[in-house]
Amino acid sequence: MPAGTGPFPPSDVADEGLAEAGRARIDWAQRGMPVLRLITGRFAAEQPFAGLTVAACLHVTAETAALVGALRNGGAMVFLAASNPLSTQDDVAAALADAGTRVHARAGVDEITYGEHIHRVLDPGPDLVVDDGGDLVDTLCAQRPDLVAAVRGGCEATSTGVLRLRRMAAAGALAFPMVAADTTTTRRMFDTTAGTGQSVLDGIMRATNVLLAGRVVVVAGFGPCGQGIAACAHGLGARVVVTEVDPVRALEAVLRGYRVLPMREAAALGEVFITATGSRDVIAAGHLPDLRDGAVLANAGHFDAEIDVRALAGAAVKVTRDVRPHADEYTLDDGRRVVLLAEGRVVNLVAAEGNPPQVMDVSFAGQALVLRWLAREHAALEPGVHGVPPAIDEEVARLTLESSGARIDTLTDAQREYLSSWRATP
Ligand code: NAI
Repeated sequence: MPAGTGPFPPSDVADEGLAEAGRARIDWAQRGMPVLRLITGRFAAEQPFAGLTVAACLHVTAETAALVGALRNGGAMVFLAASNPLSTQDDVAAALADAGTRVHARAGVDEITYGEHIHRVLDPGPDLVVDDGGDLVDTLCAQRPDLVAAVRGGCEATSTGVLRLRRMAAAGALAFPMVAADTTTTRRMFDTTAGTGQSVLDGIMRATNVLLAGRVVVVAGFGPCGQGIAACAHGLGARVVVTEVDPVRALEAVLRGYRVLPMREAAALGEVFITATGSRDVIAAGHLPDLRDGAVLANAGHFDAEIDVRALAGAAVKVTRDVRPHADEYTLDDGRRVVLLAEGRVVNLVAAEGNPPQVMDVSFAGQALVLRWLAREHAALEPGVHGVPPAIDEEVARLTLESSGARIDTLTDAQREYLSSWRATP
């Protein structure tokens, strides 16, 4: 049976008529994804997924379409749901569905439809899963136990999803191997730090048109994600304040020249706030009395729990939706206005276009190679959370260097011997 056909419900996309526009968007993205293009060619020859079904829960964007293409070229039958109801690009969903992928994703669906879409991509019984945030694997293990035995394994794209997987594994609820794809060095450099840093600020600038030079930008969380955001904001001339709970990370922020303060003090200084902690209530009811008039709040963390939107709504006497696209203004009882971007959801995916193709090229190349490895090696792996084999990270780095025209030296035999010897001098 050709990939993408079968006795399963048809795709559920917003408008099939958008397929042409989606194809143009996918073509543009693929131009910036040379590594995945190379891997797609290899997969077409090798057919590593022949006869396998892949259930994917990912942001339905033009870049994701390139990963779907690589898997389908490798012989997989792919079923795709959205990992965030607001990030779906309806034209891309239509183009993918038109090309034979079963897509269950429409922008802006409610929580119930979002959950149903995940069930629809699980219905065929996946051999491999690809998740971003953990909702697919959670649904699979908690609600579809009949399907679990056939799953060879999968990969998870983001750190919040990996945290959920580790908690599941600790509770004995993770029944197959999952690879934490967020941990590779290539992924951290390109995606979590450089790409997210740029696209988060892109989202904030599109939503507000604010000049960042000279503004006080508060970045909550100095993990790889917050570090990229802080570096980009600093590069644009912002005065960056970092909040942290981890003393080592906080010290790193100090050494990079940022001011480090607790949020209760930063709240009164900040003009733009960006949360990137993976935690909840980082900006909460207690901070609201200190915010300046016009303060802009944005979240980059995976879940919309980092800014307590309910507390903000509770404290507001007036809410003006869409003062600009993706910007809602909350007026507090003393007249101060607080602008919340993207309803507190991931601002770079909602108000901008997410990571640029060059970034997703590296992330998805790694995940494609992990899935090929899992398809072959799954029998040797225990249920639980596994790291990405270092050889895959190295291969992604090598292919990315090649595609960017950079070349590196090779150790000579004498150098190799010197470096492996315990003697001080050869
Ligand atoms: P991480 O866990 O390495 O770093 C988070 C940092 O936040 C840690 O240093 C932690 O100590 C700090 N933190 C925790 N609670 C805090 C609090 N209440 N106040 C201040 N700091 C606090 O995670 P990473 O990789 O930096 O990612 C952060 C979040 O961003 C995650 O939710 C991740 O899923 C998400 N993410 C979003 C992306 C996007 O495209 N928007 C891309 C990559 C990651």
